Amino acid sequence: MNPTRWPNSASTITRSDVPVSNSPLKPMHAPESNVSLVPEAGVVPRARLAAARVLVVGDVMLDRYWFGDVNRISPEAPVPVVHVQKQEDRLGGAANVARNAAALGAQAGLLCVVGHDEPGERIVELLKDSGVVPHLERDPELLTTIKLRVLSRQQQLLRVDFENTPAHEALLAGLARFDEQLSKHDVILLSDYAKGGLTHVTTMIAKARAAGKPVLVDPKGDDWERYRGATLITPNRAELREVVGQWKSEDDLRARVTALRTSLGIEALLLTRSEEGMTLFTADGGERHASAVAREVYDVSGAGDTVIATLAVMLGAGLPLVEAVSLANRAAGIVVGKLGTATVDYDELFP
Ligand SMILES: Nc1ncnc2c1ncn2[C@@H]1O[C@H](COP(=O)(O)OP(=O)(O)OP(=O)(O)O)[C@@H](O)[C@H]1O
Ligand SMILES: [Mg+2]
Repeated sequence: MNPTRWPNSASTITRSDVPVSNSPLKPMHAPESNVSLVPEAGVVPRARLAAARVLVVGDVMLDRYWFGDVNRISPEAPVPVVHVQKQEDRLGGAANVARNAAALGAQAGLLCVVGHDEPGERIVELLKDSGVVPHLERDPELLTTIKLRVLSRQQQLLRVDFENTPAHEALLAGLARFDEQLSKHDVILLSDYAKGGLTHVTTMIAKARAAGKPVLVDPKGDDWERYRGATLITPNRAELREVVGQWKSEDDLRARVTALRTSLGIEALLLTRSEEGMTLFTADGGERHASAVAREVYDVSGAGDTVIATLAVMLGAGLPLVEAVSLANRAAGIVVGKLGTATVDYDELFP
C-alpha cells in the first residue's frame, strides 16, 4: 500500500490527540532483568498469511481531517476562522483494525453497524479499496461515528465528534450475521471503542469459544466481565489501570494481572506499554517482554490497532502466541514510524 502523506508533511502532525515524541528512541530494556524476552520470530511464508481468515467485529468510525489556513479572527467570537482547503478521510476503529489485517495479506472480514449517512457511505467506499470483506448492518437512525479534526499549519485546532448507539434491531441482526460468519473464520477479533457495537460481546465470545476459535479483545471501559472467556486481551497501560488500579512494581503488576485473568477466565493478557514495548502474561504464570523496536516515532495513534490485527493474522496462520507477539511488536515499531498511514504490509514486516 502506498502511504499517503499529509500535505506540507511535517513530523509534528498527528492524527490524534495522543502526544507524539519525535525524538529517536533510546534502546529499551525489559522492565526487570529477570523477565524473559519474547524470542525473535522468523519469516512466515506469504501463503500462510493468505490462508488466515480473521473476523473483526466492533465499533467502526471515520477519521476526518480538514486542513486550512487561518488569516483572521472571527468577528462573531474570539476564535480563528479556518478557510478549509483539503479534506482527508480514513477508516478508524474496528475498520482500521480490519484494514491492518488485510494489509498483511490475510482474509479480513468486518462485521459492524453503520448509519445511512454520508460518513457511513464514505466508510463503505474506503472499505472497497482496503481489501476487507464488509458485513455491514445499516441502521437508518444511527449517526455513524465520525471524528472530525480541524488543522491549520500542522496544529490541531479542534476535534468534533458525532456518534450515538446503534439500535437493538441492528445489533441483533449483527449477532445473527456473527453466527453465520463464525464457521468461515479462524480467529475472532473484537475491537471495542465503547460505541455500542459490541453490546453482545459476551455472547459472541461464548459462541466463538464453543466453536473452538480463539477470541482476541481490544478492551475499553472498566467492565471487563463482558469479556469473560476471551483467549487474549490487549489493553494499553491506561486501560489496564482503569480495571486493576495503579501497580507499584512489576511484581505487583504480575499479581494484579493474574488475579484479573483468573477471575475472568481469560487465557492471556498482552499489555501494550507504548515506548516500553509490550508484556505478555499467560495462563502458565509465564511473563515475557518485548522491547519497543521503533527507530523513529512520528505517529503513535493506531499502533494498538496494528498490534491486535497482526496478532490475529499470525494466530490465524497457525503461529504460536509468542511468535505472534514478536511480529506484532515488530509491526508496531514500523507503524509508529509512519506519518499519516496506519498499516504495515507483508514486505515491510518481512523485508
Ligand atoms: N512512543 C513509542 N515508541 C516506540 N514504540 C511505541 C511507541 N508508542 C507505541 N509503540 C509501539 O506500539 C505498541 C502499541 O502502543 P500503545 O501501547 O500506545 O497502544 P494503544 O494505546 O492501544 O495505541 P492506540 O490506542 O493509539 O492505537 C507498543 O507496544 C509499542 O510496541
Ligand atoms: Mg488502543
